[in-house]
Amino acid sequence: MYYGFNYKKGEFYAEGVPVREIANAVGTPCYIYSYSALKHGFEKLHSAFSDIEALICFSVKANSNLAVLRAFANFGSGFDIVSGGELFRVLNAGGDPSKVVFSGVGKTEEEMRFGIDSGILFFNVESLEELYVLDGVARKEGKKARIAIRINPDIDPKTHPYISTGLKKSKFGIEIERALDVYREAVNLKGIEVVGIDAHIGSQIFDVSPFVESIRKLVQLADTLAKEGVDIEYIDIGGGIGIQYREDEKPPPPDLFAQAVKREIANTPYKLVLEPGRVLVGNAGILLTKVLYTKVGALKKFIVVDAAMNDLIRPAFYDSYHEILTAYESDAKREKVDIVGPVCESGDFLARDRMFPVVKRGDLLVVQSAGAYGFVMSSNYNSRPRAPEVMVKGEEFFVVRRRETYEDLIRGEEIPGFLR
Ligand code: LLP
Repeated sequence: MYYGFNYKKGEFYAEGVPVREIANAVGTPCYIYSYSALKHGFEKLHSAFSDIEALICFSVKANSNLAVLRAFANFGSGFDIVSGGELFRVLNAGGDPSKVVFSGVGKTEEEMRFGIDSGILFFNVESLEELYVLDGVARKEGKKARIAIRINPDIDPKTHPYISTGLKKSKFGIEIERALDVYREAVNLKGIEVVGIDAHIGSQIFDVSPFVESIRKLVQLADTLAKEGVDIEYIDIGGGIGIQYREDEKPPPPDLFAQAVKREIANTPYKLVLEPGRVLVGNAGILLTKVLYTKVGALKKFIVVDAAMNDLIRPAFYDSYHEILTAYESDAKREKVDIVGPVCESGDFLARDRMFPVVKRGDLLVVQSAGAYGFVMSSNYNSRPRAPEVMVKGEEFFVVRRRETYEDLIRGEEIPGFLR
């Protein structure tokens, strides 16, 4: 059981609130986040780095709800963003722009302007062409854009291919062999101020050695640059720390991860920047869903629930595993089932061939580890209104995003005159 969630008196609780109560109040499907779990997770990582100069920039793409962002802002977190929309969210949540790093291979000029005018800490630049465009935008604004160059360190993080980003064949970053030339070019641009080096090698990584290998390469490059008179202030090592999804998985505890990272960076003049997403929110959230039907097919038994791939796409998209529990302690006989949603696609499943207690129509189920890349990747596919998000603190719960309505579904759409 993860921090903030537990069975009490036979019922599944988010902190001090039975999830049944939340289901009664807001319906299902619904995302539930534990405030204490967010706080606990941040403090654990933060204190593991408290003896060096380190800035934790929560990766907004993992969970961008305003209340979640405000919580992190209150904890003192910075933010890693990849779009103007994420910057807008961070500012609206009261995030400090001077603690924001802006990553991503395809920033538009408009997004660059927004970042420069907001006074963000730095841009992670991913190509020579982007560097020139950023320089132009900054000069037009009469300002300098602070930058790090994202290096592609060519390291295999041994994770899902869709979320490996530091390999030579990937679209991200600039090869380390070419980086020196790009830095030499960057220091001559009037609209650019070089402040850092950046890499992000992938996500859901369990092994600390790829991180260590990557940091070594970054530190080496920073040292080489120093000899040429280019002073690097920040080394940004990206995100990617893995979390537990299955009971038998053992990700590195934050302090162990921190120790390995600090060994590489402690005796250098560089400040550390981290961009963790999943590790800070993944197990702080669940998706609550209700059994609609149980159905015996020719070859399989199905549990049809009211959450679908449009609510949580990870199982369909990455074939990823999410632990699923009943919202009440059950000693019912277990049987092998597929837990599926109402969407008209065979890929619409939350679990396949899972041993699961016998359940019936109306039972509540808890999909665990849904705090990261859950709601943020949800869509309106099959014209399903997106689920509400709820934050629990102690004995209280707060709707931090209401359920979408049918009106929300068609907002912005128009039937042109010729069809009238
Ligand atoms: N920094 C950059 C530049 C990134 O691209 C990412 C994630 C992060 C930080 C945060 O990584 P984390 O600490 O969360 O691993 N949708 C996928 C994960 C995609 C990750 C993309 N980049 C999933 O559901 O597993």
